[in-house]
Amino acid sequence: MKTVLVAGGSGLLGSQVAKVFQEAGWAVRAPSHAEADLTDPKAVEGLVAEGPDLIVNCAAQRRPDLCEGAGPALLELNVRLPERLARAGIPLVHLSTDYVFDGAGAPYETDAPRRPLNAYGRQKAAAEEAVEGLGHVLILRVPILFGPCRDWRDSAVTVLAANLAAAKGAAVRMDDVAIRRPTFTCDVARQILALAPHAGRGLSGVFHYTGGEAMTKFLMGLTIAPLIGCDPAQCVPDRTPPAVPRPYDCTLSVRRLARTGLLVPPTPFAAALARVL
Ligand SMILES: NC(=O)c1ccc[n+]([C@@H]2O[C@H](COP(=O)([O-])OP(=O)(O)OC[C@H]3O[C@@H](n4cnc5c(N)ncnc54)[C@H](OP(=O)(O)O)[C@@H]3O)[C@@H](O)[C@H]2O)c1
Repeated sequence: MKTVLVAGGSGLLGSQVAKVFQEAGWAVRAPSHAEADLTDPKAVEGLVAEGPDLIVNCAAQRRPDLCEGAGPALLELNVRLPERLARAGIPLVHLSTDYVFDGAGAPYETDAPRRPLNAYGRQKAAAEEAVEGLGHVLILRVPILFGPCRDWRDSAVTVLAANLAAAKGAAVRMDDVAIRRPTFTCDVARQILALAPHAGRGLSGVFHYTGGEAMTKFLMGLTIAPLIGCDPAQCVPDRTPPAVPRPYDCTLSVRRLARTGLLVPPTPFAAALARVL
């Protein structure tokens, strides 16, 4: 039986990665943060010494507002951890983000120059730079994620549902500037499973995966509202710039992934939401 170590296995994406690998017959090691603090090099060494066949790194601080002015623990998680995991020489799928781009030149191919606008993007770009030349490492960039979660506030998409429900009929302002392609964690997890036999064994470097539909948060809200029994009129378009800068449109080209013949077709946004809300 093949074994996979899912770092960040209790998170939004990691929990789905652990689930699909388990369902596919892999032995899954997905320690929670409480079980293993991955900013502790000794904890990382211990997990790697168990000798998994594959490592999938979903552990990160991915909230841009919390990454500004990052202290050493955060840099350890977002930058050093991928380096440490890669050093083990075991095939590694490392998750990264469309925020390595400035959003002014979409669509982005996998070899487009990185130009992050905020600290989160800079940390993820630094991690990519540290591991991308290694033949056993596959970097998978994804954009804004949503999927099954304990709390709607766990993703930047379903938080819109939480805000609408909490407002009890009152208006909720939603960004109507930035173009996003919400991406279903169940699709990403199936994509990682499809790549698993090839990751670091023929396929390495940067790949992109993305949902297929472009929309602003405001347009997401209009789809979400009726699914949770709210009036779409509660959604109010907001054009105020965020305190921490975000890219305008980082649409990721999946051309390189499609060429492998392994691309998992994304679930339509409304159908995926219906499985989550
Ligand atoms: N979510 C998005 O919209 C999005 C968009 C683009 C790219 N990504 C990338 O996708 C990957 C997965 O993101 P996600 O949305 O699944 O993030 P998430 O839900 O915040 O999950 C992060 C995971 O990391 C764990 N973790 C955090 N600090 C840790 C520590 N010191 N020791 C051990 N575990 C720790 C968390 O455990 P606890 O919860 O127990 O702390 C959690 O399991 C990340 O690389 C992220 O940058 C995410």
